[in-house]
Amino acid sequence: MRCEADQILITTGAQHAQDIIARVLLSPGDPVWVEDPGYPATLRILETVGARLVPVPVDEEGLNVAEGVRMASDARAAFVTPSHQYPLGMALSMDRRLELLAWAREAGAWVVEDDYASEFRYAGPPLTALQGLDGGQRVIYVGTLNKALFPGLRLGYLVAPRALVGPLSQARRMMDRQAPTLTQAIVLDFMAEGEFAAHIRRRRVAYGAQRDALARALEARLGHVLEIASPDQGLHLIAYLKGGRCDLEAEARADAHHVTAQAISRLYRGREPRSGLLLGFSGYPVRAMAPGVARLARALA
Ligand SMILES: Cc1ncc(COP(=O)(O)O)c(C=O)c1O
Repeated sequence: MRCEADQILITTGAQHAQDIIARVLLSPGDPVWVEDPGYPATLRILETVGARLVPVPVDEEGLNVAEGVRMASDARAAFVTPSHQYPLGMALSMDRRLELLAWAREAGAWVVEDDYASEFRYAGPPLTALQGLDGGQRVIYVGTLNKALFPGLRLGYLVAPRALVGPLSQARRMMDRQAPTLTQAIVLDFMAEGEFAAHIRRRRVAYGAQRDALARALEARLGHVLEIASPDQGLHLIAYLKGGRCDLEAEARADAHHVTAQAISRLYRGREPRSGLLLGFSGYPVRAMAPGVARLARALA
């Protein structure tokens, strides 16, 4: 990251930050790149301000920038999840990062970097944020503590290029006057005492083990029906359904067995969806994985 304190705006989370950004930067009819498949709440925010969504396909390197340029080179903004593509889980490659920033500079477009789960990377070197690569010119960085700490905390932030600090702060003030200070003071103490960094280190180890336990149990019990894509980062994995099985039906069956497994096909907009289940691993200890997968196996039998 490259920023100074006065470029940081406190929000209630990533969603609030994206809402402020969309209201300030977009007018009805503006073309906006979104990832396909993508995060539904981001799409709803963009639809609410009347943006014209341009669903840009995602491949193993993340957002396909060349395809985005082909579809709408004049887009006003791109909303992306570079450190852990939602929902598929890959990181945006360095080539694609540079390509995206080059396009944004040339087109005068904004890149909104939703870095919602960047703390949880299990392998490889830390990823360079688009915001840092770009030097804070075209990128608005969105961060959240609701994942690293707990969802009900409702504490997040955005980091704005200098030219946008005034308009974004004004919009935030119109919505909600100011950010609550009590939780910020508590989190500040937690950070200053070194507890936050220790918490992240402990959770990273725990979540890595939970991810591995879930992937192992899925391979062992359901390897014949599921293809597991275990990501190097984030809080969930994707289990693709083999043999043309419908993920919506699998989701309903899992639900009837009290397993939360979200069908990914409904997160696609512009192209043939893949059939798969999004399975979270951060909320359950290692010992819960095998019994949970056994229930999923009964549901899918
Ligand atoms: C991709 C993505 N962006 C943003 C958010 C929202 O984060 P917050 O709870 O900070 O609003 C989530 C939450 O699940 C998410 O998955």
